[in-house]
Amino acid sequence: MKAPDVLVVKDPSEYAARAVTLIAAAAHEAIAARGRFRIALAGGATPRPIYAALAVAPGIDWPHWEIFWGDERTAPPDSPESNYAMAAAALLKPLAERTVAPGLVERLHGEDDPIEAARHYDRVLRTLADGETPRFDLILLGMGPDGHTASLFPHTPALEERSRLVVANDVPQLNTVRLTFTYPLLNAARQILFLVRGADKAAALHAVIAGPVEMAQWPSQGIQPTSGHVTWLVDDAAAQLLDR
Ligand code: 6PG
Repeated sequence: MKAPDVLVVKDPSEYAARAVTLIAAAAHEAIAARGRFRIALAGGATPRPIYAALAVAPGIDWPHWEIFWGDERTAPPDSPESNYAMAAAALLKPLAERTVAPGLVERLHGEDDPIEAARHYDRVLRTLADGETPRFDLILLGMGPDGHTASLFPHTPALEERSRLVVANDVPQLNTVRLTFTYPLLNAARQILFLVRGADKAAALHAVIAGPVEMAQWPSQGIQPTSGHVTWLVDDAAAQLLDR
């Protein structure tokens, strides 16, 4: 596997635009090669301005986009906790106001029983790939200060999953259950783009990229696509402990 690219954005005002450029390039390549762009969105706060910038970006072939989510909170789609709600407000609603819509939007049902919601999404994803593990063209991921990504938190059961594509993961650190892609699905991706900003992520970023491999402690280390590429788009604050 080719070593990840680490792109450091020094000017905070350029971060969203750099992310949009990378996402749009992945979409253009996928649609040219396979007639569709299958993307999984990340949740949290970092992606929000990126989704807002994407909503107004020129030249995006939205009808050929298939949008999924890499993880979801156990909350209804109109909850402030919901990753779908964040993307709907930042991306889907502004697109609808321009009478533009992605070809497919398939959200994780955070309002349903978590085990059933995970099983349902797993079935939906396998159906896309005729029963195999689908290869996402691009999966967007964030990373927490503890090195978690999607909802793969340190020392949680989902880290050990090697067959199911989506699981309900018990996260005692947050006293909650989260729905999340698992490593088999994440590592089947053609491209992974980590979106990481802020000084509070610096220690985790250094540990994940430059530290010894301890995947249970630093779950983002487990993102090692079988035949895909990883890019880290980080700001100066998050990159401050990296050798540059
Ligand atoms: C979520 C995300 C989670 C997020 C990181 C970083 O559901 O919250 O999937 O993995 O990407 O916690 O979040 P921030 O971007 O808010 O720092």
